Amino acid sequence: MTVRVPAKVNVQLAVGAARPDGFHDLANVFLAVSLYDEVTASAAPGLTVTCAGPDADQVPLDRTNLAARAAEILAARSGLTPDVHLHIAKNIPVAGGMAGGSADGAAALLACDALWGLKTPRAELLDICAVLGSDVPFSLLGGAALGTGRGEVLTPVPAGTFHWVFAVAEDGLSTPAVFREFDRLAAEDGRTVPEPQASPGLLAALASGDPDRLAGALANDLQPAALSLRPHLARTLAAGTGAGALAALVSGSGPTTAFLVRDARAAAEVAAALEASATCRTTRTATSPAPGATVLPG
Ligand code: C5P
Repeated sequence: MTVRVPAKVNVQLAVGAARPDGFHDLANVFLAVSLYDEVTASAAPGLTVTCAGPDADQVPLDRTNLAARAAEILAARSGLTPDVHLHIAKNIPVAGGMAGGSADGAAALLACDALWGLKTPRAELLDICAVLGSDVPFSLLGGAALGTGRGEVLTPVPAGTFHWVFAVAEDGLSTPAVFREFDRLAAEDGRTVPEPQASPGLLAALASGDPDRLAGALANDLQPAALSLRPHLARTLAAGTGAGALAALVSGSGPTTAFLVRDARAAAEVAAALEASATCRTTRTATSPAPGATVLPG
């Protein structure tokens, strides 16, 4: 049973103050992009995970992998033992701010549900996703959505078609470390962090499909924190805009950087310029929106 699942970019990521539970309230406009992992679930004795792809060596194969956690939680809720082999064909950058680990969790959940013939209702699958992590429900849903709470409470929003280039950095960044740096920078500035609010202008631009409007509305409150931890990302952002991208921003907690471009041709040009700039490890091009986790026809 194979499930295809998209990466995401946050076109708006408004971050509130740290909550007592350590999480941050968000107004998080998720957009799924056509950059996919595939997770295959096969009946096997015990629970095992393998991974193939350019960054496979960076993917944990133990129970910390969200794909394994998804199989365990679904099996426990259903009174089954998680006898399954999960194979991840990895194309989404690892620890890159594109929800690659979350994507594999959502994909494994759907693949195991299909393999075990459980037909778990969608609402229950979304609940399990929220237990797995803040970004996992969106990986199941796909398209475009506003995430509130810690990002797990989703409201679908309309989105036109957009073209993107992603620059993959040399090393990953830890999401908790970036949120901690956000808190540290706010404290250092003596700032009171406002309640996160979705921007009506951003949502209208997203729905319009007009890349010039969206370029002016992109916003990521985690970007200063990611740049503080990885100052050289500023050079990647500048290389992309210098090559003609309409706008550039850090994707989620980074360090992947995202470049909005006018069309597929501009995407190829900006990707080539970024690779020649030597300010990133590699690039990917994609379009949005992309569908959420989907069982592929066998
Ligand atoms: O939900 P998830 O396990 O993916 O979150 C990883 C980490 O990112 C959390 O442990 C927390 O440090 C940080 N986080 C946060 N606020 C959010 C989402 C994530 O502080 N809304």
